[in-house]
Amino acid sequence: MAYSAAHLTQAAPVNEEGAALAAETDAVILVGGKGTRLRPLTNNVPKPMLPAAGLPFLQHLLGRIKAAGMQHVVLGTSFKAEVFERYFGDGSDWGLEIEYVVEDEPLGTGGAIRNVHDHLRFDRAMIFNGDVLGGTDLGAILQTHVSQNADVTLHLLRVPDPRAFGCVPTDQEGRVTAFLEKTEDPPTDQINAGSYVFNRDVLEAIPAGRPVSVEREVFPELLETGKRVFGHVDQAYWRDMGTPADFVRGSSDLVRGIAPSPLLEGMHGEALVDSSASVADGALVLGGTVVGRGAEIRGGARVDTSVIFDGVHIEAGATVERCVIAAGARIGARAHLTDCVVGEGAVVGARCELRDGARVWPGVEIPDGGLRFSSDV
Ligand code: GDD
Ligand code: MG
Repeated sequence: MAYSAAHLTQAAPVNEEGAALAAETDAVILVGGKGTRLRPLTNNVPKPMLPAAGLPFLQHLLGRIKAAGMQHVVLGTSFKAEVFERYFGDGSDWGLEIEYVVEDEPLGTGGAIRNVHDHLRFDRAMIFNGDVLGGTDLGAILQTHVSQNADVTLHLLRVPDPRAFGCVPTDQEGRVTAFLEKTEDPPTDQINAGSYVFNRDVLEAIPAGRPVSVEREVFPELLETGKRVFGHVDQAYWRDMGTPADFVRGSSDLVRGIAPSPLLEGMHGEALVDSSASVADGALVLGGTVVGRGAEIRGGARVDTSVIFDGVHIEAGATVERCVIAAGARIGARAHLTDCVVGEGAVVGARCELRDGARVWPGVEIPDGGLRFSSDV
């Protein structure tokens, strides 16, 4: 895929007033989680470095941060910390200044935020969960923060099922009245979208040197002590990429231009196929599928809404739908895969049938016809 750093550096600010505020705001990205829900893809690669629409997912977020007008980025890392620095370096290739703060033991989301404090340059920081794909105008969140004279501002949105998220009710002025992390009986469908603006003094008041959850400890405490905590609500594109189903959908939305990324402008289509990959005549690749370097898709195969990593082989007549197939894996002829994850170098034999959240661990070989959900062959 013909991407270059220029795709990042050319991104123009979308909101001039917001961009002026962004120029005086540090960006802090939390990327220290283990990405357990994406195993085995995250056995060796941290979640934000998994390729979505052909680029490490984090690169799309950095593109948006840059486009909004922020320059200085601090990554709060822990699990596989070295992978980030190796790829992004000091950020200069991307037109950014990137620093890394490594937690030897994960400090939790709040502890990670506190831990970066002596790398901050401004009186205000915008914090990002590193696994969110979004189209929100980041400058507009900063404008809300300033106009409300807030201590902390949270980006919020409404979703059909809020139970897997932080539920955040607000009053008529937009002031946050509660923060309820992952509750079975949420009082509203308004949730924490995973980006916050913190004034530096509030960030520095988070307890240091021990694990702290921003969701379960810091926000409730700020509300109890009467701090000015506001919500910025919008309905721009938003997706947490933390599960295989969301990862596949998010990548596909990027390819098709449903999810915005400044890095992909003018490149949208039904599929993104690397120039070194080969797709046979009569194979169908669609639904925002990505096909990585050197991958081969044989005749009669159908690959829909999937992420196919480098060097994967999909044999003749196989069907792959809403799947992630990791590097070097092989999918046998007429195998049928829906909603599953196949680990690096694994082999799914001919005529196998895998579905509904199946995960094949790296290197595992399932023999031809070795796994079916029905008796008809
Ligand atoms: N540095 C560091 N250290 N980062 C961490 C740590 C840590 O100990 N723990 C988690 N993170 C990072 C993860 O890498 C991820 O980018 C982000 O913090 C959020 O963690 P997730 O594990 O993805 O949380 P979640 O998706 O279950 O819930 C969070 O995000 C939702 C929105 O997507 C919460 O903030 C919810 O309130 C929110 O609704
Ligand atoms: Mg998440």
